Amino acid sequence: MTTIKNICCIGAGYVGGPTMAIIAQKCPDIKVTVVDINEKRIAAWNDEDVNKIPIYEPGLSEIVKEAKGRNLFFSTDVDSAIDNAEMIFISVNTPTKTYGMGKGMAADLKYIELCARQIARVAKNDKIVVEKSTLPVRTAQALKDILENTGNGVDFQILSNPEFLAEGTAVEDLNNPDRVLIGGDIDTAEGKKAVQSLVDIYSNWVPAEHILTTNIWSSELSKLTANAFLAQRVSSINAMSELCEKTGANVNEVAKAVGMDSRIGSKFLQSSVGFGGSCFQKDILNLVYIAKSFGLNEVADFWEQVIILNDHQKRRFAANIVKTLFNTVSGKKITILGWAFKKDTNDTRESAAIYVSDYLLNEQAEIVVYDPKVTAEQIYADLDYLGTRPDSENRSLVKVVNTAEEACKDSHAVAVLTEWDEFKELDWKKIYDDMLKPAFLFDGRRLLDRKTKEELGFEFYAIGS
Ligand code: UDX
Ligand code: ADP
Repeated sequence: MTTIKNICCIGAGYVGGPTMAIIAQKCPDIKVTVVDINEKRIAAWNDEDVNKIPIYEPGLSEIVKEAKGRNLFFSTDVDSAIDNAEMIFISVNTPTKTYGMGKGMAADLKYIELCARQIARVAKNDKIVVEKSTLPVRTAQALKDILENTGNGVDFQILSNPEFLAEGTAVEDLNNPDRVLIGGDIDTAEGKKAVQSLVDIYSNWVPAEHILTTNIWSSELSKLTANAFLAQRVSSINAMSELCEKTGANVNEVAKAVGMDSRIGSKFLQSSVGFGGSCFQKDILNLVYIAKSFGLNEVADFWEQVIILNDHQKRRFAANIVKTLFNTVSGKKITILGWAFKKDTNDTRESAAIYVSDYLLNEQAEIVVYDPKVTAEQIYADLDYLGTRPDSENRSLVKVVNTAEEACKDSHAVAVLTEWDEFKELDWKKIYDDMLKPAFLFDGRRLLDRKTKEELGFEFYAIGS
């Protein structure tokens, strides 16, 4: 049996950071070193003030505080961390390709490949390499080819250990996972040994019946499938939300009635302005691309519809704002409450707020944004990334402020795009008084109570009723 004493994790982001913090906390005998080429990110993880860590996740700073310097380390020295580790997790980003073949669909594996080449160059003794990033099926084979053909003759075992944590609840999800999935070369003795060494790590806190081992392809495909199923539920209820608006039904009531069927279940049926996050869209596009590459056009079309519906949901929410404001928002001030893709995270990747704002900016609106955890720098970077207009225009048309009240003052309409708890508790009477009339309130999260808002005088619109 290989007993792991030293772990290296390449990539100190939303996956690598929290996952390694928990492993370090639960396994004080294992030295965990998280490395990243982003010096600013590593410096933030190493900040004496644990509240300055680069990722906002409830409960994470306390865990980092407990383990950092004891058996949890953050560094930019990737080579030494690889050299010293028996097990190396790859948690680098795998964005959708923005160029060339598979543009807009396939995962860009260049960061993964760079990691593999670096591991191959540095490794002097046998290593277990664990895929943690979400990857297209059969990436493990690519990793294996690179490692075996460019390495120094050492043995590499490749494992797939997909991450199922959701942002905002990462600590809870890591502490009590529904399941831990480990894929490996279970037909060989070395492969089995490698799988067991990772099972042993998780066994420090996860009950045995929650640890599944499979062959590597099943593990890779299960991750894409789980995210596709989850996203599909959101698109399913969002499709119904539009029908509810036309028919007088209420999407919450429909979701409740449907979810009480134990075969369907009640979770993930919250209608919204559209799902965001780094995984759902990327993974489905990936699935569509893989299906197409095997000529499975019906399979590809089936899953692509989940994305089409999601894009439609964001667009129709924005279009409804324009329509309701007498068909023009040109020169009007629109307040966006919430920029993160869900509450309790500072992550904004694929957030609906970006697309809704971009739409409104194209209609010449002036946007004012407030989000409790997202920086102005990030908000501008998200809009600039779309490349819809010159960066300077984003600076002049979009203002980012520090309180919700300030954001709403003198505005024509307020749109709630992230379900932050604090938005429920705002002084809505004062907000109403300070807005232009009629005061429009668009709830993209079904977070606010219609009755009390209408009593205050708001023209209230919520997705799905
Ligand atoms: C997701 C998966 O849940 C997780 O298992 C995987 O490891 C990574 O991808 P994450 O993207 O962090 O996690 O958050 P999740 O809670 O799944 O939410 C994704 C998006 O769907 C958010 O924008 C959220 O607001 C939206 N959503 C979710 C809804 O609109 N309605 C719902 O009922 C649930
Ligand atoms: P995720 O949500 O998958 O964790 P992030 O973008 O938050 O994605 O984190 C991925 C991290 O991986 C980034 O901080 C990035 O700098 C880092 N990274 C990418 N390529 C490499 C590499 N070759 N070596 C070290 N770190 C890398």
